[in-house]
This record gives sequence, structure tokens and C-alpha cells, in this order.
Amino acid sequence: KIPVIMDMDPGHDDVIALFLAAGHPDMDIRAVTTVSGNADIGKTTRNALVAADTAGLDGVPVAEGAGRPLIRRPEHAPSIHGESGLDGPELPVPTHMVEERHAVDVMEDILLHSEEEVTVIATGPLTNIALLCRKNPKAAGRIRHLSIMGGGTFGNWTPAAEFNIYADAEAAEIVFASGIPITMCGLDVTHQALSSQAVVERIKEIPTMAAQFTYELLDHFQRAYEERFDLELPPVHDPCAVAVCLQPSLFTFESADVKVETAGKHTYGETVIDASAAEGPVQVAVKVDNDKFWDLILQSLKNLP
Ligand code: BDR
Ligand code: CA
Repeated sequence: KIPVIMDMDPGHDDVIALFLAAGHPDMDIRAVTTVSGNADIGKTTRNALVAADTAGLDGVPVAEGAGRPLIRRPEHAPSIHGESGLDGPELPVPTHMVEERHAVDVMEDILLHSEEEVTVIATGPLTNIALLCRKNPKAAGRIRHLSIMGGGTFGNWTPAAEFNIYADAEAAEIVFASGIPITMCGLDVTHQALSSQAVVERIKEIPTMAAQFTYELLDHFQRAYEERFDLELPPVHDPCAVAVCLQPSLFTFESADVKVETAGKHTYGETVIDASAAEGPVQVAVKVDNDKFWDLILQSLKNLP
């Protein structure tokens, strides 16, 4: 089993990423940590707790992390995820309790004390990971593999920048320069991971709580994408960062060096991807087999409560 920490800002697609990990027999979720992003930190933490309940993640710590980016003002995405960060399904009061410790302390503790090296999957702004790099580089150095959803050769929040990187570009810059082995699922690949009416109908037929929750999430997500981006089939970004860990053979990668723009007036948060270096330190996913990607998600949804 791959031991993982899921760092996220749920968020519709973050929750689907969590379900994919939780329902797969090869993944062992050691903690869920939250960050400000799609909604404010109180809401992303509440949403993570609801998702943990739905996925039956009893006993897995859910820890709240950074409530603000390192330097810039908080950026949220209500136009996609609604005011709650998770509009669509009814959100019950969670029974899962939030950890007392800060997310960064929880990550540090797991990384230092786990017998195996741990993978971190980050599907929100990279504030917590950057704080960990600064607080305890030795613990950050024990991350076996950091799988990120973020960036790309085009933007969705500005013409140049993807939301997660734009929301805290200074943090992203620290993380990409950290030397941690990184896989990056940017918009180039996540815009191939499209939901469709056929996928949604298949999910609706699965008689688990997690599948019904996902059905309601996708229903909202699809309408939001149509209104905000005029895209009929929404890209379901965050589960890509889980799928690359579970089944890298579904993806095509390019090695590259990735820098993050933090000074540009019109390009703040852009990822500058240099694939010319023979052996770049970042594995950038550029292609995914969409049918097999959804098969993987559906199988996890079947395995959950
Ligand atoms: C990313 O931004 C968020 O809105 C999604 O959850 C995803 O992580 C896509 O740009
Ligand atoms: Ca996210």
C-alpha cells in the first residue's frame, strides 16, 4: 500500500480525489490536511470532515492548515464551487472531529516517524507544503513523492495562471525549488480528464453513499463549468493527482524544470515549464487515458460505504 497524506481545499474535485484514494485497495491515507483555497479555511475543513465521514475514514486525522497564503490575499472560487466550497449535495454536520494540531505539525510528525517514506498529494494551493519546507526541511526531504494538481501551459484563473498556483504563487515557487520529487498534473492533462453525461449516469447507478455524493457534486460542477467557462464537459482536475500515483501507466509524462512566476504583472502564478533539459526534476503529465481514468474512479466509488 502507498502511504499518503492528502493536502486539499475541498472543493468538488478534491472530494472526488479523496474518494478515489480512500476506495482504492493500494492506498493508505495517513492524514487529510486542509488549506484555504476554493473557500475559506473554515469551510474547506468542514468540507473535508464531511468527505471523511462519507468515505468512512474513521480514525484518519483531518487537520486544519493555513488560513492564508504566504504573502498575497486569500483567493477563493465561489463561481465554480459555490459559497460553501461544495455546493450541490446537502452538507450534514460532520461527526468526524478535527485534529487539535496544525496540519503542518501533523505532516511533519507522520513524515518523521513513519517507517516507510510517505507520498503527499496536494490538490489545493501549496501553502502548507511550503510552510513544511521552511519549518522542517528534514521532514519535507522525507516526502517520497509529491503529486501536485496545479499549473500548466495555459491558465484558468487568469490567462496565464491556474487557480492553485495563482492562489499562492510564492508557496508554489518554494515547493518547486525544494528538490522534492514532484509529479505535476496541470491543466494540459486535467482538461483531458473530462466528465460526461455517460460517466455521470454510470455513477448514479452505483448504490453507495460516496457515489451518490459524487453524482450530486458532478451535477453542480458541470453546470458551474458551463456558466463560468462555457465548457460543456467539465475537467475533473484533482483526481488526476491521485491516479498518477495509483496507475502511472494511464499517463504520458515529460521531464521538465518548472519555475513559478511571482513578479509578472500579467503573469503572476504562471508555471514556466522547460522541457528542454534532458532530465528535468519534475514529471509533468501531458496525456491521460480518460476512459481508464473514470474506470478507476468508479471502482473506488463501488468500494466505499
Ligand atoms: C483547481 O482549482 C480548484 O478550483 C480545483 O479544486 C482544482 O484543484 C483547478 O484549477
Ligand atoms: Ca482543489
